[in-house]
Amino acid sequence: MSDSLQFDRAGRLRHFLTLEGLPRDLLVRIMDTAESFTSVTEQQVKKVPLLRGKTVVNLFFENSTRTRTTFELAAKRLSADVLNVNIATSATSKGESLLDTIRNIEAMHVDMFVVRHAESGAAHFIAAHVQPHISVLNAGDGRHSHPTQAMLDMFTIRRHKGDFSRLKVAIVGDVLHSRVARSEILALNTLGAREVRVVAPRTLLPASVTGSLGVRVYHDFDQGLAGVDVIIMLRLQRERMTGAFLPSEHEYFERFGLTEARLAKAAPDVIVMHPGPINRGVEIDSRVADGPHSVILQQVSNGIAVRMAIMSLVLRGSDDAFPGVVL
Ligand code: NCD
Repeated sequence: MSDSLQFDRAGRLRHFLTLEGLPRDLLVRIMDTAESFTSVTEQQVKKVPLLRGKTVVNLFFENSTRTRTTFELAAKRLSADVLNVNIATSATSKGESLLDTIRNIEAMHVDMFVVRHAESGAAHFIAAHVQPHISVLNAGDGRHSHPTQAMLDMFTIRRHKGDFSRLKVAIVGDVLHSRVARSEILALNTLGAREVRVVAPRTLLPASVTGSLGVRVYHDFDQGLAGVDVIIMLRLQRERMTGAFLPSEHEYFERFGLTEARLAKAAPDVIVMHPGPINRGVEIDSRVADGPHSVILQQVSNGIAVRMAIMSLVLRGSDDAFPGVVL
C-alpha cells in the first residue's frame, strides 16, 4: 500500500486513506480547518458553499451509524450532493465485482467516494483505480485504518487539553481488532504526545503494536491508567473474533472495564473517549460513559467539523503542497 497514492504530483492531498506518512503540519491544518467549521455546524443555517456542484458517494460495505451519518452531514454542510449506496441491497451482493460497481458509479460523474469495507486495503484499492479527478476517503478498512476517526479524536483532545507534548494517553481494550487504535497511535506519535500507552489483555494485543516504537504496553489496567490525561476505550469487536479471545464478558469487565473507582487512578481532569458504539457494562460502566469526564458525544459532534475539513482540503485542493511529503 503506497502512501504516496494520497498525494498528487504537485504534493497536494488527493485521497485520505491512512495517517501513515502524513506530516504533522497537515494534521494540524486539518484540526485548524475543523475549528473554523465548528461555528458553521453551530449556526442556524448550517451551510457553506465550498463544495457546491460536487457529488459525494457514501459507499458503505459494512454497517455504520455515526460514521456514515456524520460524513453525510459534513458533505451537505459543504453544499455537496450526497448519494448513499446501500451495499446490502446493491449489485455487489449479486456478484458484481467491486471494480465494476466503482466503474458504474464513476459513470454518473461523481467527485468523491467515502468507503467503508471489511477488507483491509479496500479504500487503497479503489483509490488506485478511480479516474484522476475522483478522491477517495477511507471510512474504515478492516483492522487496518480509520484515519478520520483518529483525526476527530485528536481534534477533541486538542480542544480539551491543548498541547500534545504534555499528554499521557491510554488506549484500552481490544487493540487487536481495532483500526481506530492503529490510526490513533500514528496520530498521537506524529503530534508528539508525551506518552502513548496501550492497555490490553495479551490475547487482544497484536505483535505489531507490542514491538512498535512510541507505545508503552500494559496488561494491568490500574497501572496503565495511573496519571493519564486521556483514556480512549475500545469496543470489544466480537464480530471480528474467530476464536476464544476472552474468558467471559463479566470477567473482561472485572479486569478491563472502566468504572468510577478505576477512573480515580487517572489525572483529576482526565477525559474519557470512545469511538462508539459503546457496550455498557462490558468495556465501560454507564456512570463513566454518561459522567462528567466523558466526551463521547462531543466526539460525534466534532466528527462533522473534522470530516468537513478533510473533504474540503481534498476536493478543493489545498493551495500549497506539503513539502515534507516524499512522492
Ligand atoms: C469504530 C469502527 O467502526 O471502526 N466505530 C466508529 O467508526 N464509530 C469502532 C468500533 O466499531 O468499535
